[in-house]
Amino acid sequence: MSGKTREYDSGARFRRDWGEEVFAQVTDEDRMERNKNSASLNEAYYDFATDHYQSGWGDKFHFCGYQPGESWETAQSRHEHYLALMTEIRPGMKVLDVGCGVGGPAREIAIFTGAHVTGVSINDMHVERSNLYNKEANLEDQVEMVKGNFNALPFKDEAFHAAYATEALCCAEDAVEAYKGVFRVLKPGGRLGILDWVITPLYDDLNPNHRRIRSKIERGGAVPFLTTAEMHKKALEEAGFEMVLDEDRAIAKANPVPWWYALDGRHQPTLYDKYMSFMLGERAFKCVRAVFKAMSWFNLTHPSRMIALDEVSQCVFSCRDGGKEGIFSPMHLFVAQKPERKKSQ
Ligand SMILES: C[S@@+](CC[C@H](N)C(=O)[O-])C[C@H]1O[C@@H](n2cnc3c(N)ncnc32)[C@H](O)[C@@H]1O
Repeated sequence: MSGKTREYDSGARFRRDWGEEVFAQVTDEDRMERNKNSASLNEAYYDFATDHYQSGWGDKFHFCGYQPGESWETAQSRHEHYLALMTEIRPGMKVLDVGCGVGGPAREIAIFTGAHVTGVSINDMHVERSNLYNKEANLEDQVEMVKGNFNALPFKDEAFHAAYATEALCCAEDAVEAYKGVFRVLKPGGRLGILDWVITPLYDDLNPNHRRIRSKIERGGAVPFLTTAEMHKKALEEAGFEMVLDEDRAIAKANPVPWWYALDGRHQPTLYDKYMSFMLGERAFKCVRAVFKAMSWFNLTHPSRMIALDEVSQCVFSCRDGGKEGIFSPMHLFVAQKPERKKSQ
């Protein structure tokens, strides 16, 4: 790889490590096996996919539901504000962002609440870029990112008043261990708020179309074992948390316009939203793919850019189809609390 960056070859690494699959035939045993490598799969995935994500999602790598006429940008912020409110984040608190991406949600929540946010990501590029953006936003004293695996969080016990995660903990190699790690670094009484990807009770494992959509979402989003809200709750309780709230924000009254409408050309209230909605559709994908292919013949782009386009588009289309079928939600909200320390008798 001399002269080439780590990103250059990351797409091929991800594909090799993920392995071959027939989408409708993936079993839970396959998922469990693949999930053992989730951290390294995610590290490789974000080496090649981050530029692509940023060109589509900016600095916030998560979905959101809408009010009629509400722009994508406003709706994303409202989504984060709601999470911060339910997690009871207050000014001056020390807060952990578990799986922070390039830090868009962390900066938004820091500004909204006045808390200090520390983000953790498995990907070096996320840490480097986030810290640069924190500085550019004049927030370097309030938001900082560090590299780490959320299955072995690099923080002292009881270091944080609260923690949250947006569309990240579903990638955990072992959900119970990841939740135990967050439990350990929270102070007693501290809350963990999570907005995450789940398959809903409408998912039917005997339906080949459902199975195909699920496997494509998993692969396209580097989530080796996409599971149910029930499994998340069980894992949270096993880790020692008490459940405070659990609701699917995809069907909440506050979001009457479904999140996937933006991916289906049905919700595009601003000019920018129209552009994004078009860019995330199949027609733009075909055009951009043809351009990338031509560029790669002349060595004008590195091979992982093409893989990013294919994998991330697959993720977007299958998330949209999962939303349409009602079998997938990228915004199930879980709020859990570490019990208060018992007073000595
Ligand atoms: C879909 S992105 C969401 C990023 C961010 N929460 C947001 O909403 O913009 C998932 C994030 O989880 C991180 N991640 C995945 N597996 C991880 C692991 N084992 N340890 C730490 N971070 C991880 C990825 O690096 C990425 O930053």
